[in-house]
Amino acid sequence: MRLATSLPVVALVLNFAAFAPKAQSAPPQVVAQTPPMGWNSWNYFAAKVDDKGVRAAADEIVATGMKDAGYIYVNIDDTWEGERDANGVLHTNSKFPDMKALADYVHSKGLKIGIYSGPGPKTCAGYAGSLGHEEQDAKMYADWGIDYLKYDLCSFREAVMTSQAPDDKAAQMRLMIAAYDKMGKALKATGRPIVFSLCQYGWDAVWEWAPALGGNLWRTTGDITPRWDRIYAILSQQEGLEAYAGPGHWNDPDMLEVGNGKLSLDENRAHFSMWAILAAPLLAGNDLLNMKPEIKAILTNRDVIAIDQDALGKQGSRIYSDGEVEVWTRQLSGGALAVAVLNAGDNRYSTHPFHLSLAKLGLRGTQHGKDLWTGKDVELTDDMPLEIAGHAVFLVRIAARK
Ligand code: GLA
Repeated sequence: MRLATSLPVVALVLNFAAFAPKAQSAPPQVVAQTPPMGWNSWNYFAAKVDDKGVRAAADEIVATGMKDAGYIYVNIDDTWEGERDANGVLHTNSKFPDMKALADYVHSKGLKIGIYSGPGPKTCAGYAGSLGHEEQDAKMYADWGIDYLKYDLCSFREAVMTSQAPDDKAAQMRLMIAAYDKMGKALKATGRPIVFSLCQYGWDAVWEWAPALGGNLWRTTGDITPRWDRIYAILSQQEGLEAYAGPGHWNDPDMLEVGNGKLSLDENRAHFSMWAILAAPLLAGNDLLNMKPEIKAILTNRDVIAIDQDALGKQGSRIYSDGEVEVWTRQLSGGALAVAVLNAGDNRYSTHPFHLSLAKLGLRGTQHGKDLWTGKDVELTDDMPLEIAGHAVFLVRIAARK
């Protein structure tokens, strides 16, 4: 009965379609207009990630308020891959019994799901990569409902670059770029908006060529670890890359280590603050089920997230240093400015009295702002003395700068 009544409607629709002008292909949906936010399994779980853990992470992202704060992507990193069958179809391993069902689950929470592969025969952890199966894999991701792909160079270096062009660096780089281009095109051909994250550690000035082949973000360095010296080294390596970031295409100083290892509260705050100044992707990498309240408070600090996600999409930079104290700013929409004063030194306090020069920041006279870690209003006066603990940051938003 139900079938009988709905048939004419179907016929009508089909009929209309026959006379309607040929459907235009939908304009490509623009992804990553602000730096992607979410969670990735690697930094804490590494090879221990599984279906259950990803579902739990999705649940926690909602329960902790992280989703409401903007964390949307739930990204599975390396070690989900199984074997290819006779048709070249890559299967998941036993940790992920049904990727489509997992994607549906993540989507049912109002979140998006990401996956990982690489252009070589093997991923960094030695699982199957996409070499020779790029289109097939991209199509499978789209069929599963994947929204984000991190594509990691790893074995492509030995398997293709150095084996095909042993003594020719330029030819090696061309091979690498072609491999990323191939996957960029394969993703595009699926018609599904999929964030394309390049992971090749910043080789060959990736920031210059990645956007043209559809890259939405690209790693600028080797891997992060949950240690202050590594976090600070990566921060320092972002200088000079500011011009390459913007809506849809971002420098990626790697995923967050907030809440991991033995980072102090100051270090966690400084790491998060500086990634916001950098307009970096904010991919939490901690154990969400056992997240301490103070870590949750850092990751969900709306004011700091608003710096990171500012619509202007302008990456901040280091304006000046005075000994171990560094002053960074980021221009924000509406003429606002974020100022981060970081004590990068290892001593408890700076080794000399530090005075903040507003003049060096192009600011004239007293400025009114908000301290984004205390939430209090602050007044900044020129040459005001500031005492900031080692590895700590003073982060201020000036709404209407003078
Ligand atoms: C590389 C990447 C990491 C992670 C691992 C997984 O080291 O840089 O972010 O994806 O591979 O094996």
